[in-house]
Amino acid sequence: NLSVKDVCFIGAGYVGGPTAAVLALHNPAVTVEVVDRDPHRIQQWKSPHLPVHEPGLDALVRAVRKDSEEETQSASQRQQNLVFSCESARALAKADIIFMAVNTPTKMFGVGAGCATNMTAFDGAMRDVATYAKAGAIIVEKSTVPGGTADRVRKMLAASRPGVPFEVLSNPEFLAEGSAIENLTTPDRVLIGSAATPSGRQAARTLASLYTAWVPSDRILETNTWSSELAKLVANAMLAQRISSINSISAICERTGAEVDQVAKAIGLDARIGPQFLKAGLGFGGSCFRKDIASLAYLAESLGLDDVAEYWRQVNTMNERQRDRFAHKVISRFDGNLVGHKLAILGFAFKKNTGDTRESLAADVIRVLLEERPSEIAIFDPFCRADDIMRELKTVCPDVSERDVVKIHTDPYLACSQAHAILVVTDCDQFRNTPGKKPIWTHNSNFVQSCAADCTDCRAHSTRPTTEAIEWPRIAYNMVEPKWVFDGRGLLDVAELEKLGVRVDSVGRRTFH
Ligand code: NAD
Ligand code: UDX
Repeated sequence: NLSVKDVCFIGAGYVGGPTAAVLALHNPAVTVEVVDRDPHRIQQWKSPHLPVHEPGLDALVRAVRKDSEEETQSASQRQQNLVFSCESARALAKADIIFMAVNTPTKMFGVGAGCATNMTAFDGAMRDVATYAKAGAIIVEKSTVPGGTADRVRKMLAASRPGVPFEVLSNPEFLAEGSAIENLTTPDRVLIGSAATPSGRQAARTLASLYTAWVPSDRILETNTWSSELAKLVANAMLAQRISSINSISAICERTGAEVDQVAKAIGLDARIGPQFLKAGLGFGGSCFRKDIASLAYLAESLGLDDVAEYWRQVNTMNERQRDRFAHKVISRFDGNLVGHKLAILGFAFKKNTGDTRESLAADVIRVLLEERPSEIAIFDPFCRADDIMRELKTVCPDVSERDVVKIHTDPYLACSQAHAILVVTDCDQFRNTPGKKPIWTHNSNFVQSCAADCTDCRAHSTRPTTEAIEWPRIAYNMVEPKWVFDGRGLLDVAELEKLGVRVDSVGRRTFH
């Protein structure tokens, strides 16, 4: 790479941590320091219990992380060029390249509430950059930001450090949670937006030189900063649009004889459409799609393009309705009376292979169901920690802890025992009744929960592959009538499951019960 010795990431989250680790692995001569204002998060990154659960991440971090001095001596074979700390002033002062990887959620107050991007964290981190970064440092937007942010940052830096040269690049991240390491290792493309000036292009080449250590150069795409910033929002909006499109069709299927998976397969075989992101379900959750569509719509609106804004907003509207429709279907199957009934929820994370509960689909479904006063809602998720589940649940039902109705289990059989209905909400392979032969990757949450946060002897308690899938015959046997299974992800083989004496209602299929 072009004379890069020190790289700093601001933000040790789902993006900052894994991206820094992969960058460090492939650039052993570069020191990559990840800083965060949250000391607890940094402590977790330094411990055996990483704050982010991703297949392959534990092993990768162990291979490149600089450990304490004692451990360093015994592990001198390792690379040790990945550092986690809270010392942002020191790390920023020596960095040749600074990646901004802080959170950029939806703004929930004032002008643009519910649509615009809340840039508080980003601008706060930028103030640190403006104060401590050395002259000539390259500042990279890794966070997803509104179009025009690079221009704004350039002006801000010019005002606070007049005459000091800085280059600002856009380098959005396209990783998906649950497959972050795979996506970072073999990205479809690396997008780099720069100013259309000789120094802007030179900075883009310097950044590209870090990536070409493992990414083929024909996968590195250079554009101007506006195109790059906008492309990130559009990529997420288009992916989410496909999900809302197929979910709108699932509603038609449920009222006719068509099956949504058959329709998706038939259209996906058209090479122009393709098979990806056509799985009907409960809609999209997670921290990105909804907020990035809101941001795109807000941009369109602020440009006076109301019909464009409305077009994209509809993708989010359809998404919310899908969950609502599902919850109301459950209620109607009980003739509008959930009182005295136990419901078990399988899955709380927004998708499989992650413990991330942000914008959990389950939380919204539970909110609607709680209104009906069931006797119990039992939650099981193989990846999520109980406190994360409770925190997310409280964002949609603030008084949830006061009601002794919601119980979180670490054993799926206890969660489902004596349930009148089971709702499959996350697409975990463990929940399939035809799991196949592939090992299922899981996180042993039982162990982690019984381990102290500062435990130093529990690497074995961390993530591991296992073939454990839940045993549906056991689950079905311990349910109570009317034994409903609501498959919100189209994950289950309906005919097989019905042989166990349960009634199955699956998304995108008409049910005859
Ligand atoms: P996150 O909330 O997991 O992590 C952000 C981290 O930044 C937090 O640990 C927070 O403490 C830290 N932070 C905030 N302000 C800071 C400051 N001033 N100084 C130091 N640290 C600070 O968020 P994330 O999921 O990693 O997302 C980060 C960005 O990447 C967002 O813009 C998001 O839209 C984008 N993105 C996320 C994903 C994803 O899958 N999560 C994928 C692509 C892009
Ligand atoms: C997404 C983008 O895929 C990624 O490129 C971007 O960088 C961040 O946002 P992520 O949100 O982590 O990644 O997961 P993704 O796999 O896209 O799934 C998002 C949601 O859509 C999940 O709730 C998932 O279950 C759902 N989904 C996905 C469907 O319902 N159907 C599908 O066919 C695909």
